[in-house]
Amino acid sequence: MSSIKSSNVAIVGAGYVGLCTAAGLASLGHRVTCYDILPEKIDGLNANVIPIFEEGLDERISQSVFEGNLKFHHDLDLAVANADFIFLCVPTPQNADGAADLTFVLNAAESVGLFAKAGATLVTKSTVPVGAAHRIAQALSRTDLHVASNPEFLREGTAMKDFYNPDRIVVGSDEISVSRRVAELYQLPDVPMVLTSPASAELIKYAANSFLAMKLSFVNELAAISELTGANIHDVTAGFGLDKRIGSMFMTAGPGWGGSCFPKDVRALLSISESIGAPSTLLEAALQSNEATFRRVVERVDRIVGPGLEGSSIGVLGLSFKAGTDDVRDSPALAIIERLIDRGASVKAFDPKARLGSSSSRVIQVGSVAEVFSGADLVLVLTEWPEFSEITPELLLPLMRRQNVFDTRGILTDAWRTKSHRFERIGSL
Ligand code: UDX
Repeated sequence: MSSIKSSNVAIVGAGYVGLCTAAGLASLGHRVTCYDILPEKIDGLNANVIPIFEEGLDERISQSVFEGNLKFHHDLDLAVANADFIFLCVPTPQNADGAADLTFVLNAAESVGLFAKAGATLVTKSTVPVGAAHRIAQALSRTDLHVASNPEFLREGTAMKDFYNPDRIVVGSDEISVSRRVAELYQLPDVPMVLTSPASAELIKYAANSFLAMKLSFVNELAAISELTGANIHDVTAGFGLDKRIGSMFMTAGPGWGGSCFPKDVRALLSISESIGAPSTLLEAALQSNEATFRRVVERVDRIVGPGLEGSSIGVLGLSFKAGTDDVRDSPALAIIERLIDRGASVKAFDPKARLGSSSSRVIQVGSVAEVFSGADLVLVLTEWPEFSEITPELLLPLMRRQNVFDTRGILTDAWRTKSHRFERIGSL
């Protein structure tokens, strides 16, 4: 086997997690080959077309390809044959009952088992249910391979920064020496390592995302209480977040939480808890609370514009589930827009990065902030893109039919309050 300083690594799945992991590991000097089941994706990557927007990712990929540390392959056998570590980075979508669907993971493991060299380690990065490591080992059908679970905690928009500065590295394996070798690939001797069993590693991932989602559900409920009692959520979170046991991060009230991980992972952990007879009421409540947050935003728009939204024109700033990404998967913005349209509003939306496909034909996507304001009865800020905090009311308000602005992300300046006919924020009067 090569020295740990420079190992041969294969990445199976050139999606968001796979590409960020491939780029990060290649930049550390590992020789990385990346495979995807979609040949057109590999063709694109070989032509330097990066299929996702992620800050700094394209530069990292170009640099590593140029240095010869990163290659993209159509053939799984070529990608994995020489690898010491094979990372599974394939999706685990949600089944109809909320459980994680392991089909892609198990199929990929089965294929890897056909081509991996003896002594290689299969590392699962995909978020998998507790206990999946044993099913993955079975799918490999090999006794001369090692298996480890190494959940990722990368946030979209800051994934490359997170790769080099993680809070911790978690690796689960039945062999501690295998866990240690996987952790050493990241070359971060000062970062805390949690080397544990596969089941614990798998549960840590779900626990982190579910806890953060619950924290936000609680903050968003406090925002609703603040609105009705004359408190200000900004001061409330600042005040109770200063208790070190609670912490001030991840405390910004908003239109609800979303994205490719939180909703899926909370439902998956809930489904696990139910299937083993230990149903989590907290997770159920966090999901319901998030739905209630979407509803509250819609009700408030109705109160400002209506009663009733039939025939109203709503302008929306932001479609992605948060700033810094073009990802609209489970975006709160879309959940709210759908509800507005169901109530008879027409919606025009602008996002600096996200593009809606033809599947969202009910929303009119426009190319500028000014078009969002033009003729609108209300403008609703749904994603906290920094450029929205720089817009000023003087030229935009006169374009509106009625000068109502509702900022669910708390990013517009106070000038909007004084200039608009009506200006509202989440979590305060
Ligand atoms: C999350 C986890 O943070 C990451 O560790 C894991 O690997 C993948 O899932 P991500 O999906 O990129 O990352 O989004 P994140 O930044 O965590 O935000 C999730 C949602 O919470 C977004 O809708 C965001 O707008 C919302 N949010 C976040 C808030 O409403 N307020 C906050 O203070 C923080």
